[in-house]
Parts: sequence; structure tokens; C-alpha cells
Amino acid sequence: MEKVAHKRRIVLVPLPLQGHVTPMMHLGKALTLKGFSITVALGQLDQVSSWQHFPGYQFITIPESLPLSEVKALGPVEFLIKLNKTSEASFKDCISQLLIQQGNDIACVIYDDLMYFCEAAAKEFKLPSIIFSTTSATHKACFSILNKLNPKKFLIDMEDPELQNKVVENLHPLSYKDLPIAGFGPLERFVELCKEVVNRRTASGVIINTVTSLESLSLTRLQQEFGIPVYTLGPLHITAASTTYSLLEEDRSCIEWLNMQKPRSVIYISLGSIFDMGTKEVLEMAWGLCDSNLPFLWVIRDGSESLPEEVSTMVSERGYIVKWAPQIEVLRHPAVGGFWSHCGWNSILESISEGVPMICRPFQGEQKLNAMHVESVWRIGIHVGGEVERGGVERAVKRLMIDEEGADMRERALDFKEKLKASVRSGGSSYNALNELVNLLKTE
Ligand code: UDX
Repeated sequence: MEKVAHKRRIVLVPLPLQGHVTPMMHLGKALTLKGFSITVALGQLDQVSSWQHFPGYQFITIPESLPLSEVKALGPVEFLIKLNKTSEASFKDCISQLLIQQGNDIACVIYDDLMYFCEAAAKEFKLPSIIFSTTSATHKACFSILNKLNPKKFLIDMEDPELQNKVVENLHPLSYKDLPIAGFGPLERFVELCKEVVNRRTASGVIINTVTSLESLSLTRLQQEFGIPVYTLGPLHITAASTTYSLLEEDRSCIEWLNMQKPRSVIYISLGSIFDMGTKEVLEMAWGLCDSNLPFLWVIRDGSESLPEEVSTMVSERGYIVKWAPQIEVLRHPAVGGFWSHCGWNSILESISEGVPMICRPFQGEQKLNAMHVESVWRIGIHVGGEVERGGVERAVKRLMIDEEGADMRERALDFKEKLKASVRSGGSSYNALNELVNLLKTE
């Protein structure tokens, strides 16, 4: 009788936010399909009930970590620096106990690149570790550019428009003014964080949720800089043939509503799990959407009751509002013709995977980078800058949904969809990268 190979356990350490949990869980699913068992280490279990619907995974807690509620008080950069300091010793204890429990059978620790405290435990217990970067390769490349900067000199240099517009070497069309630094407090501290994030320490490889056909320049640069294998496994929700990993309850009634709409007639609006529009912007958005005379599906996390009274009846007559949608299914639905997005990296990958062109309305640095790629590199969307006002919303929606330029964007988005599909099929770049990663995990 053939000997059954013993399952080897992988410890995953996500940053416990939807945009980071989702790709980590897809990765877990992909590795489960290759015969590994998964333990997920979490610092904050304030969403414990949401985590319980990940069947087959073992969950452990890092007791001394920092509650997410501290982000508001500290700001994202100070929060992450403190989180990493606070969690290091506690995570070592977790791994030590897990090793006893699992009879030393841990194949690898895979951690979100923002959870860099994990490496100390991996090193202490001589476990292989792999860094997982859940945003784009270009974002990772920006971190490595920032890591080499002198923050004071950079801020002075940036007063010169010529330097602002200088293209970053080997990363065309990215210029220095596009580096995602806005909204993260003092540059010195942000650069300190970047140094930690790009430090590969003892890691055996870096996983990125991207596809070579989308970001070849940035990937080449990263490959050279890291000097360890860079595994591009994206789009991970397709690589892993995953279902949703939503931390919030999805309102599936919108699928029934979409079933009643004409093909490619609906614009879907979602701003991810963190950011919200201000009241004035919501009002202008509501008018613009209604004035476009096209049906719309709008995710408003506070619900339709939060809409200003003067537009709430009009909006509910012309569109459909949910607090949280089954986004991948929505984008896959034939009635959806466009996506108004804040350009979080997961939303970008999910939209391109379904060939849906976008209207980009980014909030902060890295989303702006993604928006720039959508509009200027892949040419599958429109960037809406400045203040949101109803006329601008109506024009952008019509350009994307009705005009010829929108049809061209859709065609290009559909071409990318095919490329992405090919990357996860046998022999494709993500398919091959996953097999290479599995080989590494089996031999380490
Ligand atoms: C965060 C950051 O804000 C983003 O810039 C970074 O790229 C990733 O981490 P978030 O803002 O939540 O993410 O956006 P995004 O990356 O798009 O992730 C949102 C996820 O929530 C997507 O996987 C999307 O499918 C899901 N979602 C969103 C739903 O399932 N339903 C919804 O109604 C809205």
C-alpha cells in the first residue's frame, strides 16, 4: 500500500484587516489543496465570530498583541511599529507551544510583510519563513525606494517640480511625486517602517499577490533587489479557486436585483472595508448616479439609512444599496458593466479578473498608485480627481458605461481577464510559481 504523506503545517500570520486577511486566506486555501494544514495566528480576536467560518483551519491567538482600535489613536505607521514590538515575544511563545503540540511538524511561517515581528520566532526555532506582500509589486518596489531615501533631503528635493516629475528608474511611468507617502505622518517614521518591511531577514522567499503580465517591470526590480525567489501567485482568489473570505455578512439580495437588470448596464460602487465618503461627497455621488439614468449597486457600509434625506427616496428608486456585497460574485455578474472603486489592490485584481473596467476614486497613497496603473498603464479605467461633484460623477459614469472610450477600456479589461486566466492555468506563470513554492515548502 502506498504510504500516505504526513500533512505538514503552515503557520499564516495575516494583518487582521479585510484587505489583508482575504489574500492570506486564499493563499491558505491554495496550500490546503496542495496537502498542507493551516494554522492562522491572530493578534486581535475582536472579530472572532467572523473567523469561525474558515473550516479546517486552526486558529491561535498572539496574546500580547495590540488591539486594532489603537490605529485611530496612534495613526497607521506608529500603530504598526508598536504592534511589531509588542507582539514579538508573545509570538515566540505561541510558536514554541505549537511546535510541542504539532510534534515539531511546522513546514514554514508565512507572514504579512507588515507583521515582520514573526521572523524573530522563525529564526529562534530554525523554521523557514516566507514574506507575503498582499498589495501590488509596484507598491512593494516603492517601499524599497523609500527605504533608500534620506527623508529630509527628499522633502527638500520634492520642492523642485523637475524632480517631482522625474521618472523612477526602471519603473516607468512612476515618478517621484507618485511615491505613496501622503497620509502616513512624518516621513522619517514612515521610512523607518519601510526599512523593516523590505528587510528580508532570513526569509526564503517573497510571495506577491500579482500577475507577471500586470507588473513585469516592478517584479524584475524586486527579483533583483531581494535576491531570493519572488513568487507571483495572483490573482490568488482564482489560483485557489476560493470562495469569499468576508469578515462581514454579505447581503445576497443584490444578486437577485442584478438578475433583473440588462447585461452590462449596472455600475457597481464600493470603497472597500476601511474608507468612507464624507456626507457632501455622498450627496454629490447620489445626484450624479441618478442623473446618469443608469442602474447602480452601491455598497454603503452604514446602510441606506445613513443617506441624506433629500436623496434617499430617489436613490432607492433608481439603484440598490447594500451594507456589504458578495463582491467577486457581483463583478462576475453579466449585468455589471463598470466598477466605481477606491482602488484597493484586492478590488483591482477582482475587477480585472472579470474584465470589468473601472472608475478610480482613490483615498490614500497606495490606492493612488493603483489608480494610476488602471488609467495610464493598463488603460482600463478613468481616474476621478479633485472634489466629487454631481456633473463630474455623471460624466465619468457615462464615459465608462456608454461612450466608445468606455467600450475600448472594457475590451482591454477583457484581454487582461484572459491573460489572468491563462496565468493560473497549467503552465501559466502563477500556476508554475505555486508549484515552485510548494517544492520549496516540501524541501525546506
Ligand atoms: C486595504 C487597503 O485600504 C488597500 O489600499 C490595500 O490595497 C489593501 O488593504 P481595502 O480598503 O479593504 O484594503 O480594499 P481592497 O483591497 O479592495 O479589499 C476589500 C475586499 O473586501 C475585497 O476583497 C472585496 O471583494 C471585499 N468586499 C468589499 C466585499 O466582499 N464586499 C463589499 O461590499 C466590499
